[in-house]
Amino acid sequence: MKYFIITFGCQMNISDSERIASILEEAGHKQADNPESADLIVINSCSVRQSAIDRTFGALNKFKNKKIVLAGCILESDKKKFKDKAQFWNPADYFEKLPRRESQFTAYVPIMTGCNNFCSYCVVPYTRGREKSRPAKEIITEVESLAKRGFKEIFLLGQNVNSYASKFPISNFQFPIKSQISNSKKEKDLNFAGLIKLINQIPGEFWLNFISSHPKDMSDELIETAAKSSKMISYIHLPVQAGDNKILKAMNRRYAVAHYKKLVKKIRQAFTKYKPQIPVTISTDIIVGFPGETKKQFQNTLKLAREMKFDMIYIAQYSPRKGTAAAKMKDDVPQFEKKRRAVALDKALKKTAFANNKKYIGKEAEVLVDKISNGFAFGKTQTFKNVKFPAGNFKPGDLAKVKIIGAKAFNLRGETIK
Ligand code: SAM
Ligand code: SF4
Ligand code: F3S
Repeated sequence: MKYFIITFGCQMNISDSERIASILEEAGHKQADNPESADLIVINSCSVRQSAIDRTFGALNKFKNKKIVLAGCILESDKKKFKDKAQFWNPADYFEKLPRRESQFTAYVPIMTGCNNFCSYCVVPYTRGREKSRPAKEIITEVESLAKRGFKEIFLLGQNVNSYASKFPISNFQFPIKSQISNSKKEKDLNFAGLIKLINQIPGEFWLNFISSHPKDMSDELIETAAKSSKMISYIHLPVQAGDNKILKAMNRRYAVAHYKKLVKKIRQAFTKYKPQIPVTISTDIIVGFPGETKKQFQNTLKLAREMKFDMIYIAQYSPRKGTAAAKMKDDVPQFEKKRRAVALDKALKKTAFANNKKYIGKEAEVLVDKISNGFAFGKTQTFKNVKFPAGNFKPGDLAKVKIIGAKAFNLRGETIK
């Protein structure tokens, strides 16, 4: 059979889709070039907002004449609606499967799944279940293999990587470590900072990063480790969700604005100490129009965004999700007002992001090329900034030395250095 996987949602789903593809290939199926020519459609769904799950309904209708399998994050209440239209992918343990990677140079490596935090607006603990960390040996073996195969960029994935917890042998191992792990009996607790330290020692030239972090679990040890580790790029994604203490409490985020500000200060200080060439990039997630959010409370979020000088904000308009704690609260911020707040926040973001990017002009940067299009190369710096420059002979996966000659809020223009 020919299959096609449609993926909605976050990097976790992108990563899961690569493992689903490998399971299908193992069973003898072949990937189709497009959904139209496939016999089997796998829809890897997201439920984070109503609009996300609506896309699954849309795809289901569009391909109703084909065999459809639904995977990913789906609420039980929605599963009932899909029941007659599709089969469900049995929640296999994808971790043990070797993925069929889409890219030859960027790899997503899941280190945990699920979430125990129960932020009041969020479906993830219901769709992905409780937090489960992947054994360190498995992660390290996978990263070692990626490094050997020449992968250039590795993202460690989890809903809250900061609470990663595993065990690891304490012997003075050397890489490759596979055989040594199996021989060692003594094990000790390994937290996320410890995992980064181990991965940082794996031979190979690759950039390392992780998503997502939770501000309540971001320790000083982790900040120091991230800044100090030579392979870690200068980029931290730290979702704040709101800049008002009452709203943060109603969201069950379990930190206050002051704590978040302190974290950002520590992150900037640590990265300036160890990677002083260019300021660390900081991005965040913010929800506007959470139940009960007043104009004044939104102003507090706006103020925080300006103060933090974010490089990127993934802005979401609140969408009630069945079964979550917030769904019991009145969704009382009208749609037009949510939109207005999103636009205002975006305007503030563009200003801070542009001011940050202007600092790059005249500087040199190493860029990992993602794609080539219309004579231009598009790629990312070690600070996760998008750069466009003349393609020359570059191809995806190459590292290019570039001088930055222009800046916009969300991208830089460069010229290659001979
Ligand atoms: N675990 C990450 C964290 O703690 O921030 C993010 C996980 S969530 C899948 C991704 C983003 O979706 C969240 O950061 C939040 O901004 C947004 N989001 C989650 N639930 C939402 C909802 N009900 N309405 C609007 N946005 C939502
Ligand atoms: Fe959702 Fe909160 Fe868990 Fe992130 S930390 S996945 S927002 S419940
Ligand atoms: Fe990701 Fe959506 Fe699930 S954001 S974890 S795919 S609900």
